[in-house]
Amino acid sequence: MSVHQEIKKVTTHTLTELKRKGEKIAMLTAYDYSMAKIVDASGVDVILVGDSASNVMAGHETTLPITLDQMIYHAASVVRAVNRALVIVDLPFGSYQGNSKEALNSAIRIMKETGAHAVKLEGGREIKDAIERILTAGIPVMGHLGLTPQSIYKFGTYVVRAKEEQEAQRLREDAKMLEEIGCFSLVLEKIPAQLATEVSASLKIPTIGIGAGNGTDGQVLVLHDMLGLNQGFNPRFLRRYLNLFDEIKGATEQYITDVKAKDFPNEKEQY
Ligand code: KIV
Repeated sequence: MSVHQEIKKVTTHTLTELKRKGEKIAMLTAYDYSMAKIVDASGVDVILVGDSASNVMAGHETTLPITLDQMIYHAASVVRAVNRALVIVDLPFGSYQGNSKEALNSAIRIMKETGAHAVKLEGGREIKDAIERILTAGIPVMGHLGLTPQSIYKFGTYVVRAKEEQEAQRLREDAKMLEEIGCFSLVLEKIPAQLATEVSASLKIPTIGIGAGNGTDGQVLVLHDMLGLNQGFNPRFLRRYLNLFDEIKGATEQYITDVKAKDFPNEKEQY
């Protein structure tokens, strides 16, 4: 039996164990109760309440506008639905950068008000103090390197990061540092597959990739993207498992047709 099948509740230690046994970790995002219930029932290992909620739930162009209060609302809804998966919550832009005391307060609010199991922060050496301070409170932290969408205005575009040696070397060093200070895992977003494989092999903590090839210890996708709810987003790394946009549109069109034709509700559908 795989570790995945044996586990009743996934913890941060389960992820280390999965890496040790060479079993890949499956992570997906969720932002609301109903979707989280389905995703958890599917047996996914980790649910990330990502700040991608800013894009897919609220329609913002970037992840920057979402607030800590809004993240807490999404995370609390997800936690109410979940029995098995580890739930990790993104600290949103502006809730941790440049002030480790504020970072700790933000992380404490997430843990207290949502019941989630861990937080995720974007960045390396520039947020080391913030991560260390959160860790002192016993809050598990997941790191996030490579393309870090909260810094989109610094990068200018969503292209692949760390293709040049200087940036790749910085990423290697940041990954080691995040492991050394105590992060339990690390997201590697949109970096060359070879670099992600090398970094994953050099760490004991599991790496979770998105657009980082098959050499990471696990994979994550944004739920709305992999279900095809989001028609305009077509990066090369995305595999679509459904076309829910068309499915839902078809169902709602049928509903409209039935109402207009006075076919709904019928005799059995009334009191
Ligand atoms: O916010 C998010 O969904 C994320 C994943 C893409 C890793 O950070």
